[in-house]
Amino acid sequence: MELIVALTAEHALIDATAGALRTWAQRHGRGEAPATDGHAFLRFFRRWANDFHHAREEQVLFEALVNEAGLPRVRGPIAVIVGDHASLAKGLAELERLLVAGGQEAALLEVCLRYTRQLGHHIDAENSVLFPEGEARLARHGVRELEGRAPTPEELDAKAEGEALVARYPSGDDLEIIRGDGCVLCPAFGATCEGLEREWWTESEWEELSDRMTSD
Ligand SMILES: [Fe+2]
Ligand SMILES: [Fe+2]
Repeated sequence: MELIVALTAEHALIDATAGALRTWAQRHGRGEAPATDGHAFLRFFRRWANDFHHAREEQVLFEALVNEAGLPRVRGPIAVIVGDHASLAKGLAELERLLVAGGQEAALLEVCLRYTRQLGHHIDAENSVLFPEGEARLARHGVRELEGRAPTPEELDAKAEGEALVARYPSGDDLEIIRGDGCVLCPAFGATCEGLEREWWTESEWEELSDRMTSD
């Protein structure tokens, strides 16, 4: 599905810009990177990641998953991912508050680390579970393409700003986060989401599994 291909490609830049944000926050803490770039990161994550990327996920893809594929809106993967979007936006508000206050470099680094770790897990959950499983379920309901809107000029400017930041602040590894595919590494698993099988599987999927197990 073209929309999912586009959203997945957008993840690559959003993830790279998150890495750049960590590098900026570390350098800023040493007085080696200007606060103005912090505002440029804010514009990228608000205009490109939030207004363009998250909005198409919520308004186009998730609406179709609920309305066309009959998946639950208020629990399971969709509820977790929508909740992440809201809490990621709060992280940006916190980042802005510290930037505007000034002199809060240590707290700023802490907020950037928390934000980028949450964003990393969020992207992994979408890439490895929500997108492929959602696409398969939409296909089963006859939905093979979805129409997402084009970016506004302001959103494209924010995207270009993100690309420039990635070039300016090469990303180092964040050794304290374990990234990975599937439900097991998702922070919501067992907390607010019982995982793909329990949340999304239909009776026929469970039957298929038990048929496979008995025939093995
Ligand atoms: Fe998302
Ligand atoms: Fe996403």
